[in-house]
Amino acid sequence: MKILVTGGAGFIGSAVIRQLLSSKTAQVVNVDKLTYAATPEALEHWAEAEDYAFEQVDICDAAALHAVFARRRPTAVMHLAAESHVDRSIDNAGDFIQTNVVGSYRLLETATAYWRELESAEKAAFRFHHISTDEVFGALGAEGHFTEETPYQPNSPYSASKASSDHLVRAWNKTYGLPTVTSNCSNNYGLYQFPEKLIPLMIINALKGKALPVYGKGENVRDWLHVEDHARALIAVLTQGRVGETYNVGGDSEERNIDVVGRICDLVDARQPRGDGSSRRDLITFVTDRPGHDLRYAVDSSKIRSELAWRPMESFETGLAKTVDWYLAHEAWWQGILERRYQGERLGLATPKKAG
Ligand code: NAD
Ligand code: DAU
Repeated sequence: MKILVTGGAGFIGSAVIRQLLSSKTAQVVNVDKLTYAATPEALEHWAEAEDYAFEQVDICDAAALHAVFARRRPTAVMHLAAESHVDRSIDNAGDFIQTNVVGSYRLLETATAYWRELESAEKAAFRFHHISTDEVFGALGAEGHFTEETPYQPNSPYSASKASSDHLVRAWNKTYGLPTVTSNCSNNYGLYQFPEKLIPLMIINALKGKALPVYGKGENVRDWLHVEDHARALIAVLTQGRVGETYNVGGDSEERNIDVVGRICDLVDARQPRGDGSSRRDLITFVTDRPGHDLRYAVDSSKIRSELAWRPMESFETGLAKTVDWYLAHEAWWQGILERRYQGERLGLATPKKAG
């Protein structure tokens, strides 16, 4: 296979590319704009590999996309490029509409034009895999799980933009016959996650002795999945998923935010005890809640488990401990981000923009 991966310099895209290249089963073309969130360092080892090529392209740029498809001639697309951070979408929805909606549309148009011209065997084998989120389904109460049949009810500008792209992908399959598959995944964590997201932000703040800002009362629940387990799921969906279908992917690891932060404090304390022997739980600070904060996500992954024989290999306990170790061992990486791109400031309070 020759797989065109969009957003391959991001947290999840880079994990997918590392797995694809390590397995020696695919050539990869990484199409990425390199926004603030990109971590090309995550692919440093593969930069010169024969089976790997990088194209710095904005997926909103139709002409550039056409040129990449014509030159690289992929047999499949895995579409991960997106603005991915909910808090940033609250502050500035425009970038999310542009990349997640308009960019996905441009990519669908380009892929469809290219796919139509393929020979019949290549045409039948071609796949367009759209990578999406469980947030499109909205918020759960104390009970229940999202299934593939759960109605869409997005609540943030981010999830609304992802829901829009899911609908576009569905429409391109139904209307034009483009062979698509879609997956909707829960919260990922692991190596090379940009420190705006809960887990890396808390690890870094705990190491630095800074406040650990927990939104609201910390009672919101997320289902955590290790990024390497997600990457394996994505490759399974691409290679074995049924055309036109969607697959939910979750870690079966539901946890309240306050408990996640407590665990991180204990893991950091065990590795770097504070001088006075006190617990970093002292650093937990309850702050103003996220506007429109979804209470609970939980994913029913029984379809991908039974159809594609996938299951997560990492428990939250072991995965979180490995993640804390990874951040301890890669301080130079995250210090570089703190110095140049993001200093850990609060985002997403929907503060009205000043005129002019
Ligand atoms: P990320 O923010 O770490 O990376 C996104 C990548 O996309 C970056 O490398 C960035 O440079 C690139 N990109 C952004 N805009 C682009 C554009 N216009 N053109 C080309 N490239 C562009 O995101 P992530 O956490 O790796 O998420 C990847 C995908 O998975 C997203 O579609 C996201 O919605 C979805 N997802 C993420 C999670 C999660 O927990 N992180 C869970 C479920 C689904
Ligand atoms: O569910 C899948 C989604 O998970 C993905 O589609 C998104 O791309 C990804 O960013 C993630 O969204 P969340 O909003 O759930 O992730 P985040 O890490 O921003 O927040 C996780 C929870 O922690 C959420 O309930 C908000 C809370 N939080 C977050 C931050 C950054 C805090 O309490 N304090 C914080 O400082």
